[in-house]
Amino acid sequence: MDFHGKTALITGASRGIGKAIAFSLAQQNIHTLLLVARDPQRLQRVATDLEQLGIQVSILPLDLTQPRTVHASLVKALRHHPPIDLLVNCAGVAYQRQFIESRLQQVETELMTNLLGMYTITRLVARQMVQRKQGHIVNVSSLMGKVAAPSMATYSATKHAIIGFTQALRGELAPHNVKVTNLMPSLTKTDMVKEMTPFRWVQATRPEQVAKAMMTGVKRGNREILVGWQSHMAVMCDRLAPKLMSQIICWTQPQTPPSLSPYRDVIPHQS
Ligand SMILES: NC(=O)c1ccc[n+]([C@@H]2O[C@H](COP(=O)([O-])OP(=O)(O)OC[C@H]3O[C@@H](n4cnc5c(N)ncnc54)[C@H](OP(=O)(O)O)[C@@H]3O)[C@@H](O)[C@H]2O)c1
Repeated sequence: MDFHGKTALITGASRGIGKAIAFSLAQQNIHTLLLVARDPQRLQRVATDLEQLGIQVSILPLDLTQPRTVHASLVKALRHHPPIDLLVNCAGVAYQRQFIESRLQQVETELMTNLLGMYTITRLVARQMVQRKQGHIVNVSSLMGKVAAPSMATYSATKHAIIGFTQALRGELAPHNVKVTNLMPSLTKTDMVKEMTPFRWVQATRPEQVAKAMMTGVKRGNREILVGWQSHMAVMCDRLAPKLMSQIICWTQPQTPPSLSPYRDVIPHQS
């Protein structure tokens, strides 16, 4: 895909990887950007910087955990914008926690944002693309969608689901000339990982590197885009030597053991 003169909608564009993708697209002479996230002030700051580069920018503050509101607002917004050539589903949340200590509310937020949010936006935009017989959708999964990580079980589950969703959609939309790509960043220095306990030996990349990998991959028409050599190694090792990969994952996982104290009485003791 050549981005010149095109229109893109990016979710999660207020910070981190989504913001870096917006600036990369601006460098590639995209014409119009529609930016989605919850925080209107942050979105506006990003929009103002992009406008200084000569890009037409609209912001659409939306909470992706609210599918009905998202649907109604997006229908309205799409009426007033040029048709979307590129959709980048980047918004996401992650909570790091030993699974047995996981909290339902956080799991719901991960499912609602990472999956239901992607569903709501994609369904509307894909319909428009099918009608026009052109378009490209990039779904941001993660390396954890290929190689799941301890302490991130529910997040990894959403990212695995995105890979399945993307694969199915690719087949469905191909006859309509709509391409669907899976972008899988590995650990990236953004707000998302600021508070997390680091995985050992995993090198963090920068959001700009992820954006660059996306530009190259989309231009080449790649179905899947991995970022960085460690990701390629991990996926290859998981395929060729899964037992070894499981061992490596155990070695790299955060070394903080789960505290079991609040759960002592969850299963009543039979004497
Ligand atoms: N950082 C990593 O190591 C890493 C690795 C692999 C994959 N990824 C994936 O890359 C994507 C971007 O992550 P990031 O690292 O850039 O995270 P980030 O810096 O925390 O940014 C997350 C973005 O999503 C938006 N967002 C969060 N909840 C939302 C909601 N309910 N409704 C609408 N927008 C929402 C945020 O904006 P508001 O807060 O304003 O809503 C923000 O723009 C995610 O899908 C993540 O899973 C990240």
